[in-house]
Amino acid sequence: MTGTIGCKGTPGVEDTSDRYHENVRVILAVPAAFFLAACSKPPMDKSEIAAYGDREDHHSYSSPLECRINHVALDLDVSFEKKVLSGSATLTVVRSDRAQTLVLDTRDLKISSVEISSGGRSFDRASFQLGSVDKILGAPLRIDLAPHTTHVRVNYETSPQATGLQWLTPAQTAGKKRPFLYSQSQAIHARSWIPIQDSPGVRVTYSATIRTPKTVRAVMSARNNPNAPVDGEYNFNMPQPVPAYLIALAVGELDYRSTGGRTGVFAEPPLIERAAREFEDMEKMMQAAERLYGLYRWEQYDVLILPPSFPFGGMENPRLTFATPTLLAGDKSLVGVIAHEMAHSWSGNLVTNATWRDFWLNEGFTTYFERRIQEEVYGPARSEMEALLEKQELERELKTLEERDEILYVDLKGRDPDDGMTLVPYVKGMLFLRSLEETFGRERFDTFLRGYFNEFAFRSITTADFLSYLQRNLLDSDPDTTRRIDPEAWLSKPGLPPSTPQPRSEALETVSRICKDWMSGKLATGNIPVQTWSTQETLHFLHSLAAIDSRRMADLDGAFQFTQSSNAEILYEWLRLAVQKNYERAFPKLEQFLKQVGRRKYLKPLYEELAKTPAGKERAKAIYSQARAGYHPIAAMTVDGILK
Ligand code: BES
Ligand code: ZN
Repeated sequence: MTGTIGCKGTPGVEDTSDRYHENVRVILAVPAAFFLAACSKPPMDKSEIAAYGDREDHHSYSSPLECRINHVALDLDVSFEKKVLSGSATLTVVRSDRAQTLVLDTRDLKISSVEISSGGRSFDRASFQLGSVDKILGAPLRIDLAPHTTHVRVNYETSPQATGLQWLTPAQTAGKKRPFLYSQSQAIHARSWIPIQDSPGVRVTYSATIRTPKTVRAVMSARNNPNAPVDGEYNFNMPQPVPAYLIALAVGELDYRSTGGRTGVFAEPPLIERAAREFEDMEKMMQAAERLYGLYRWEQYDVLILPPSFPFGGMENPRLTFATPTLLAGDKSLVGVIAHEMAHSWSGNLVTNATWRDFWLNEGFTTYFERRIQEEVYGPARSEMEALLEKQELERELKTLEERDEILYVDLKGRDPDDGMTLVPYVKGMLFLRSLEETFGRERFDTFLRGYFNEFAFRSITTADFLSYLQRNLLDSDPDTTRRIDPEAWLSKPGLPPSTPQPRSEALETVSRICKDWMSGKLATGNIPVQTWSTQETLHFLHSLAAIDSRRMADLDGAFQFTQSSNAEILYEWLRLAVQKNYERAFPKLEQFLKQVGRRKYLKPLYEELAKTPAGKERAKAIYSQARAGYHPIAAMTVDGILK
């Protein structure tokens, strides 16, 4: 691989255990002729593969091939009064002799001064220029280097509007006593709180000193000491190199519980016991993941439960996944998100997309891996249900997308990478890998994946890097089988190829039948076995109610109290249906939900659905005028776009 920015860090040990066996799941036999008809193209050659090798990151100003950083030392004060972080970032620089300038990404940072040093002990003032502001990218910070510069220190302060930080009042937390701060750096928000080369192709180790009020604890995506005294100063070290989007910080009133082995949870005191119970299978998940694809290389895996405004389900910050409290359903039904974030410890954090164009390498692999962990821990019936639900959701979403967004190797030039966030990289990516698994057999595919994670550990890779590895390590060994797959169709064409795998779930087929019988009046409302269903079965039922009206929604609600559901996924699906069908009895709950929960996956479709009618749009605007202040900047931007 040429031009790879990265370090072969912690050496990994390949897992050669034979505890894992194939054939856990029945794979449908699809006649070879069908595949041949579907994909008659010969396998890709070198020049075709090269077309997927664009290493230039269009979302960063830094030119890492000339001059790059490999370590960041943060020294920051946290002010809840001013809603700013202030202090310095000291960067260690690696460069070619010719490079006279270091270029960093910034957004809304107030730079007070820049210093340079040769050796890192004494620093001298340096000149710098902050370039003009681009709406998506922020502003480049160009720093003039001396001939022997090894360290650059930027003294700065963040803006209260930093897109990568959310500052919460005590009222917005579970404990109601202390304020809360957390960062969300993916995709390109690290630059709003650290002047840095904010490209997934640049990896850094980092250290940090964080000073806070004496009543709150700071944690980072680094080595955390849950027993550190709450004294207002916290020191961190992250010895494994990570891209900027994985640097994370949270500050609040936090307790810790171990869930065994190398896993545990941080949460506010009122949530800590619930969180520890909900996630008690984490150690099992970790063991399953290691059996599948090799040892966990980050020492510790903890989850931090954030306040409900967190705009995502989960974020895979290394060693410390950030998660929404909406996962705490009480019955472990939503822990798939934890399996997903844990899987990112291999796909994403260990082997990282080189640019946001290659995002499917992070999310498609992770969604595939997530299904496999789930299958190991909860059995194939559960993982197949989730795979089928996901595929159906993708099909539903594909009907609404522009063609350019249906493509795995998506062109994001000139666009905000947050806009490319659809189910396509996740589910189409997962289905591509599953088609490879089904074509070559699970054993060969798993061996291939183990090799892949080992080969590219602690590196950032393009889609072309994956393709040539695939060619060399799977396709070349079996040309006949290879003729059955068409990577081009998966990567560059809209929609789903005809040979797309089809997950099967008997349980969900039964639910479909029941739904049909109820809709046609054959089955009485009281005889729908909702109480015996898993969350996934109930979700499938709700997905199948497209033709329902508000009167029949009232019947269901009377029997099963969906409007009062304490399961966030079920409640969200129900509320979405309520808006579509104008089921007014659920509207107060809808308003409450939109004011409390900031998860973008819920907000976006609910506001979009509301905005479809003039009356709904008015209601949406009224709710939003009160809810907006509590949303994360990323979520607010999304809703602004919908209601503009
Ligand atoms: N890394 C993503 C979240 C993300 C993606 C944040 C792009 C910013 C930009 C995370 O792993 C994720 O995919 N979270 C999902 C859950 C998952 C189970 C699909 C979410 O938040 O819904
Ligand atoms: Zn993910």
